Amino acid sequence: MNKNKFSPVDDNDFTRKSSFLLHQSVSQIAHEIRNPLTAIRGFVQLLKPDLIALGKEKHAELLLQEIDRTNELIDEYLGIRRQERSGYEKQSLHLLIADISFLFESEAILRNIQFSADFSDEEIFILCEKGQIRQVLFNLVRNAFEAVEAKGSSCGKVRMKVAKKGGFARITVIDNGIGLSKEESVSMVTNSHYTTKERGSGIGLSVSKNIVDSHGGKLEISSKLGYGTIVTVQIPLLF
Ligand SMILES: Nc1ncnc2c1ncn2[C@@H]1O[C@H](COP(=O)(O)OP(=O)(O)OP(=O)(O)O)[C@@H](O)[C@H]1O
Ligand SMILES: [Mg+2]
Repeated sequence: MNKNKFSPVDDNDFTRKSSFLLHQSVSQIAHEIRNPLTAIRGFVQLLKPDLIALGKEKHAELLLQEIDRTNELIDEYLGIRRQERSGYEKQSLHLLIADISFLFESEAILRNIQFSADFSDEEIFILCEKGQIRQVLFNLVRNAFEAVEAKGSSCGKVRMKVAKKGGFARITVIDNGIGLSKEESVSMVTNSHYTTKERGSGIGLSVSKNIVDSHGGKLEISSKLGYGTIVTVQIPLLF
């Protein structure tokens, strides 16, 4: 029998081999990233006393925290940490947002973006994997900064708001950037690998949506081309 070269069996086999090769090269890259990261961590630790003397202790701590988080992500990808993940814990959203604000503060000044975070006076707690929710907020603020910058206006604004609403903690990231075009639906932008950026990988929103979904929450986007975007994340409150 003349077997068709492009039979589904061959296609499947090809897809399996390609995924295996892709996983292998990503694993190698992930593995290699750890070496410079280890060196960077060592230098930050070495410089920590000087940074403390300059009143920059929080910067040093956050730098170390971010490096550790990157190492954790790599370990998770390589399957090293899967069993030891800390899991869900009680988390103050105020502290989390304060961390994120701190991380973006200097960048906002450098890029001439007005960046602010509004809290209600009352503390808000959620049950979450801290690193993952940090990653979501980081992705959303990063997108907002990029959207504002893409618009090129001199009065770029990014605002984070946190409040309680109907059993949920509601975090909103608001920007007055380029907004989404009519053709770009919410499902399109939250789809893996959709990007309009030269150096974007198009996975920030899809990863964020998956994380929020896995916390029993919702991620919603509303946007107007040329005016800006509002991304709302709702996560069940911890009473
Ligand atoms: N705040 C925003 N304003 C306007 N467009 C946005 C905003 N956030 C996301 N987008 C659009 O959705 C696309 C997908 O966003 P996503 O964060 O998933 O990927 P990315 O930012 O392109 O790359 P990366 O994976 O590095 O984050 C963006 O390329 C952009 O077109
Ligand atoms: Mg992004």
